[in-house]
Amino acid sequence: MTMHHRQQTIHSYAPRQGHGLPHDPFNAIIAPRPIGWISTRAADGTLNLAPYSFFNAFNYVPPIIGFSSVGRKDTLNNIEATGEFVWNLATEDLAQPMNQSSATLASDVDEFAIAGLTPLASVQVAPPRVLESPVSMECKLTQIVQLQGADGAQVPTWLILGEVVMVHIDHALLENGIFQTARSRPLLRAGGAGDYFTINAQAHFDMRRPR
Ligand SMILES: Cc1cc2nc3c(=O)[nH]c(=O)nc-3n(C[C@H](O)[C@H](O)[C@H](O)COP(=O)(O)O)c2cc1C
Repeated sequence: MTMHHRQQTIHSYAPRQGHGLPHDPFNAIIAPRPIGWISTRAADGTLNLAPYSFFNAFNYVPPIIGFSSVGRKDTLNNIEATGEFVWNLATEDLAQPMNQSSATLASDVDEFAIAGLTPLASVQVAPPRVLESPVSMECKLTQIVQLQGADGAQVPTWLILGEVVMVHIDHALLENGIFQTARSRPLLRAGGAGDYFTINAQAHFDMRRPR
């Protein structure tokens, strides 16, 4: 295979030397991202809720999901203290309260109240789920990994991973028992100061893995 050179048409940069663009494109490229809307409970019982778009699923059996806290935040502190969290699906309908729950507030402020959301008791963990969200997953902490750069230097970012021990799904999102991803209108974060997407049935296509 011939090696091609496309320097004329490609903007290339080494992030440590700067991106050379009006805005860092990183978040707009790795996008759209599902949102980890995470509820926790502080050791003193204070409820906390915050969105994390550095979020994804990492294993099937047992199901493991994770998100990264860029800097030390209440959610990380609460999970370190209690070992529990709940993930809630942020939908298009819940865009405003999701956004309100991201406000930087004192650790004794309950974002459920700020965002006008209702805490609903979980089954296996102490942090409540968000009643208004159609899907929630109760999680038990499995690992907290502090990230490091290629130079081995630690960065103040922590990847928090947890096993899903309980799942709750609104029946309205099940069709003959099959979860309807597009029907849930998931809220997805892209780049910029405030770019979001959702998806609809028209965006769907089917492709099976090669045998
Ligand atoms: C859509 C969205 C996605 C976000 N993603 C992250 C993220 O991945 N990591 C992070 O550290 N902060 C993220 N933030 C910012 C946090 O939500 C914000 O710092 C919040 O105040 C943290 O709350 P806490 O201190 O109660 O945990 C995001 C905010 C929004 C609105």
